[in-house]
Amino acid sequence: MPNLPFDTMRGSLLAAALTALVSAEGLGTPFQPPQLWKRQNDALHAELRKRAESGLNDTIPYIPKWFTQKVDHTDPSNNSTFKQRYWIGTTFYKPGGPVIVLEGGETSGAGRIQYMHTGIGRYLTEALGGIGIVLEHRYYGQSYVTPNLTVENLKYLNTAQSLADNAFFAENLWRDLPANLSHVRPSQTPFISYGGSYAGSKSAFLRVVYPEVYYGSLASSAVIWAGENFWEYNEPVRAYGDPVCIAILEETARRIDTYSASGGSVWQQFKELFGVKSLEDRDSASYIFNVLGRWQSGNWNKLESGATSWDRFCTNITTGVRDEAPEHDQEILEKKEAIDLEAGVRNFAAWTKRSLRESCGDSNITQCAGTAGNRAYSQRVSLTDGWKLWPWQVCTEWGYFMPGAPAGSPTLMPRIVDMPYLRQSCQDYFGMPSDFQVDVSKVLQYGGYNLTAPRLMYIDGTHDPWLYATAHSPHSPQKDRDDNLSVFIPEAWHHNDENGLGDISKEPQRIQDVHNLQIKIVRGWVEEFYKENGQTGTTP
Ligand SMILES: *[C@@H]1O[C@H](CO)[C@@H](O)[C@H](O)[C@H]1NC(C)=O
Ligand SMILES: *[C@@H]1O[C@H](CO)[C@@H](O)[C@H](O)[C@H]1NC(C)=O
Ligand SMILES: *[C@@H]1O[C@H](CO)[C@@H](O)[C@H](O)[C@H]1NC(C)=O
Ligand SMILES: *[C@@H]1O[C@H](CO)[C@@H](O)[C@H](O)[C@H]1NC(C)=O
Ligand SMILES: *[C@@H]1O[C@H](CO)[C@@H](O)[C@H](O)[C@H]1NC(C)=O
Ligand SMILES: *[C@@H]1O[C@H](CO)[C@@H](O)[C@H](O)[C@H]1NC(C)=O
Ligand SMILES: *[C@@H]1O[C@H](CO)[C@@H](O)[C@H](O)[C@H]1NC(C)=O
Ligand SMILES: *[C@@H]1O[C@H](CO)[C@@H](O)[C@H](O)[C@H]1NC(C)=O
Ligand SMILES: *[C@@H]1O[C@H](CO)[C@@H](O)[C@H](O)[C@H]1NC(C)=O
Repeated sequence: MPNLPFDTMRGSLLAAALTALVSAEGLGTPFQPPQLWKRQNDALHAELRKRAESGLNDTIPYIPKWFTQKVDHTDPSNNSTFKQRYWIGTTFYKPGGPVIVLEGGETSGAGRIQYMHTGIGRYLTEALGGIGIVLEHRYYGQSYVTPNLTVENLKYLNTAQSLADNAFFAENLWRDLPANLSHVRPSQTPFISYGGSYAGSKSAFLRVVYPEVYYGSLASSAVIWAGENFWEYNEPVRAYGDPVCIAILEETARRIDTYSASGGSVWQQFKELFGVKSLEDRDSASYIFNVLGRWQSGNWNKLESGATSWDRFCTNITTGVRDEAPEHDQEILEKKEAIDLEAGVRNFAAWTKRSLRESCGDSNITQCAGTAGNRAYSQRVSLTDGWKLWPWQVCTEWGYFMPGAPAGSPTLMPRIVDMPYLRQSCQDYFGMPSDFQVDVSKVLQYGGYNLTAPRLMYIDGTHDPWLYATAHSPHSPQKDRDDNLSVFIPEAWHHNDENGLGDISKEPQRIQDVHNLQIKIVRGWVEEFYKENGQTGTTP
């Protein structure tokens, strides 16, 4: 997460940010210099405002509403409230249908409305006669909780409070609905949660903490494991990225570690080649390898924003590097002579140089792409500094620093990008002491890799860089889940089942299979709910 993906082209800067923050969901990589991170966030929010408005005019309208939510669920005597935004769509509703609550996660909820129009939210509501809801996460988008984002005021931004929001929302929503929907509450109507990424872990946790409120959950790319050192983020990239492209990146990382250790003119020339001479060593390595974040936006639908961003990068830096027979990559790599690594590193350098110029324009590179000025960002506490929100969650509960691999393992990220460097951002932004601990027990208390619950479906992707934090992590003792509630989609990236084409039959077979299974499973849950509750819901 140290690198937020961003594009080298101004026009696609937005696309990349959107993917990082929305499609590939928000679990972006917040620890790039705030100037760059903030820029993307601002562009993102402009786009999301448009999307929020466009939700109104679609043939499946999603109407924005405000729910009166409790600020502090841990103190029942405190009645202080804030306005939590949600969007509701009843186009397909038939009495007896479920309520599908799609989690907003760590971005503006507006970015998720598209999934109610053409993705998983559409499929479930249409097939099951459901009510669709996008529930924005506290603090994000416009669901402001406090008048500013001082550390004192951020104390209500945590996973437990947000889960409690979900429960309180489901229990009390009916009060805001027309009288003929007064049965839309968890005791009489099944509430089903869907979430992707951090939002997916919330869907999973709901089945542990509020199983009586959310009757079932679809948890996609749910990061149920949290920890400070998440170097494995880059392992799926290494495993599935174009081998020639990966060889160039590994070689570049190796040189950065070797040259920076000896210093001197070779290192200076190398930095100059990449256009990062004025950056501190670790900042320069971190900046160069920001590009790894592009992998996360991969998608079977190449029209999704950012879906081709990684491929465009790799095509560029491998041009003129490989022999004509790319299908023999593996063989070629074994005999390294067939690839011209030198040319590859030069291509990568040219790419980086241009990207830096386009990201920073004429501004001072040290200030734009370096971290030296980060401490000043502790003073930025206005509501428009929403870029700080996910870093806060990372620094307090989730961790997910992404340094180079441990010695002995091949690494894509240079090892000079180390834990002390990455942790510094938390000290800078939030004034944390140098020996602070990210209290990941707040997350792991729900079960970590072992989290399992009735009516909890896990959907993961083989290529997802977050794989090692999900239920299908190679590290998980439970990774070989063989129940029918666990799907590991081949050649899929980060929650690639959330988006869709609005018509399942037009999707690639492996995605059709998942969407059809999800409908079948949720249909079963709805029937089970009415059997248990002895009520006569009529599901279509
Ligand atoms: C929605 O449609 C109406 C009528 O066509 C139009 O006046 C309005 O500007 C549209 N709003 C948005 C946000 O697109
Ligand atoms: C209730 O919570 C608010 C924060 O929303 C806080 O400012 C206030 O002091 C609390 N009131 C009491 C009585 O604890
Ligand atoms: C909070 O609300 C409850 C229920 O409406 C009420 O009984 C209680 O007096 C309120 N507490 C405060 C401090 O206003
Ligand atoms: C932040 O908001 C609090 C009220 O919650 C206020 O007391 C404080 O002065 C504000 N601080 C800044 C820096 O705006
Ligand atoms: C509920 O009542 C409204 C009118 O107030 C009507 O438009 C809607 O179709 C009714 N919904 C159901 C599910 O009966
Ligand atoms: C690759 O990127 C460089 C620098 O950004 C650019 O000059 C070059 O034309 C690109 N090459 C290809 C083949 O796209
Ligand atoms: C860029 O900013 C850095 C750090 O604030 C400063 O030391 C340096 O002199 C500036 N460079 C230029 C060319 O202004
Ligand atoms: C998870 O389950 C395995 C056995 O399947 C057990 O060895 C391990 O201790 C459990 N981990 C946690 C965190 O409960
Ligand atoms: C999943 O398995 C359970 C028990 O093994 C079975 O009752 C249920 O019908 C299956 N669900 C689907 C959707 O195949």
